This record gives sequence, structure tokens and C-alpha cells, in this order.
Amino acid sequence: TSVVVLSGGISHERDVSLRSGRRVVDALSRLGWRVSTAEPDAKLLPLLLERRPDVVWPALHGASGEDGSLRALLDVSGLPYIGSRGPAARLAWDKPTAKRLVEVAGGATPASVTLTREVFREIGARSAIDTILGSMTDGLVVKPARGGSAQGVTVVDTAEQLPRALMDAFTYADEALIEQRVVGTEIAVGVLDGDDGPAALPAVEIVPRSGFYGFEERYTAGETRFYTPARLDPAVAAAAGELAVLAHRAMGLRHLSRADLIVDASGRPWFLESNVMPGLTETSLLPQAILSTGRDLSSAYAAITERALA
Ligand code: DAL
Ligand code: MG
Repeated sequence: TSVVVLSGGISHERDVSLRSGRRVVDALSRLGWRVSTAEPDAKLLPLLLERRPDVVWPALHGASGEDGSLRALLDVSGLPYIGSRGPAARLAWDKPTAKRLVEVAGGATPASVTLTREVFREIGARSAIDTILGSMTDGLVVKPARGGSAQGVTVVDTAEQLPRALMDAFTYADEALIEQRVVGTEIAVGVLDGDDGPAALPAVEIVPRSGFYGFEERYTAGETRFYTPARLDPAVAAAAGELAVLAHRAMGLRHLSRADLIVDASGRPWFLESNVMPGLTETSLLPQAILSTGRDLSSAYAAITERALA
């Protein structure tokens, strides 16, 4: 089998993608496959048509890799590729849209408002919190409406912190998502397509030393403690798995995804987002979930690739 692994790119998550790409190359090379890498730049289409791999693995995070645009180009190439098609990726990439689709499908997601830069300028952050979010008690989480790896994400406890948090979010996207903070256990649930449809992997519980799962906490070994499977009541773990699969289905995702959830004190899982190309680095969550089942990454990635070739 010949594979071109795409990594890098010009998104804010370029470095993360390079790390994911290296790890995918290692895992697939161990199968004896012919693996090469490429950057998703302007020469990509001619390069792919020249190399003609059996399959393309876009190990790309952030804009272009996950927003559907690069996947549309892969559709043009006619080559099979790993992961969701462009339109589905676009739905998942836009957090407000993803939340709405999951809610319509019957999943819980924290209350939120989406603010454009223009509206922010018009009404100011203070009136936004007063008029729209006054009832929230556990604080807010402000994030770019489209983004990854916690870049531009801030937990906000007081109205005074909101303008700064919004400005950080607007560094990464033209819209900011202001979400009710759910206090509880942060977990990530990988979903892999199988013969019987999408199935959830064991949940990974995330316990950052700092209390916030930010960029450092994601990619510096030792900054976060993980428990796989998560220390949850079996019924709660099952509900979390169902919510991750529901999200995967609601957005029409393909092959693999990872839902990020919070389980509140009552054991209810809340949907935050789904990632169409979850991090695959040494410290990332989906690889940990796979390894916890006793499976090695090479065979798991081979199985994912088989789906794309089927
Ligand atoms: N956006 C990063 C790569 C993740 O979801 O793991
Ligand atoms: Mg994400």
C-alpha cells in the first residue's frame, strides 16, 4: 500500500500537525507500506497526481486541514483519503454549527452565544454578558468559533475578563463562541467506523496540572495526567460513548473523529466539539484510547486505511 501523509500547512496548528504526521508515518511504515510526506501547498495536486498513492492521509489540524477546503481538493484529485469529506468537515469545524446539529439530534451541549467581531464592536462585551449571559453561574468559556488545540480559549469568571478573552478569540477567528462553563470531568471519546457503524473507543479522562487543558498542557509530556478508561461510572461512560457517536453521525463524519465532552457532577455528558482529524502526537488522546484497547497504532491505522480503500 502506498500512502502520502499530508502534514504541516499554514494553520495555527502547523507544529502539531508535523508531530502528528511523523507519528502516522512511523506507524504506517512499520507495516512495510510505502509512505511519503507532502505539505498541503499550491503544488499539492500535481504532486499527488504524479505520485498516485493508493490513499492520502491528511494529518492536518486547523484551517484547511479540518475546515473542508483541502478535502474538497482531495475530492478533485480522485484519490481516496482518510477521514471526513469536505462538507462534513466544514460542519464540525464550525463549533456553533456542530453544537446545533448535536442538539437537534438529541445531545446536550452547553448554552452559548456566537458573537461576530462587528457585534462585539457595536454592543461591547459588557452588554453582551449582561443581556445574553446574565444567568450563568459557573463562568464562561470563550473560544474562537473555529480553531483547535485550545488556542484563543479562555475561562472567564467575571465580566471584567470578558473583553480580553473575546479579543484573544478574535485573533483566531471572526466569530467568538461564548459558552456556559460546565464544571466536571473533561473527557475525550474517539470514534472509529467499523462494520457495524461508528463505535466509541474508551473515554480518556484529562486532568491538567494547571487545571486548564491549554496548549502547553496538551503537548508537553507530564503537564497533564490521563486516565484511560476514564474513571467514570460504567453507565456514564456508556452515555459519553453514545454522545460521541451521535455527534459523529449528526455531522456525517467518516472513518475517525474525536468528541470532546464534559461530564457534570450529575453524570451527564455535554458535547463541546468533534475533531475530524484529532491530534495523533505522542501526547494526544486518540492514540492513547487506541493503545488502551491493547491494539497497536499500526494495526489500528491500517484498519482505518482499509475503510478509505473499501
Ligand atoms: N486540534 C487538536 C489537534 C486536537 O483536537 O487534538
Ligand atoms: Mg478541537
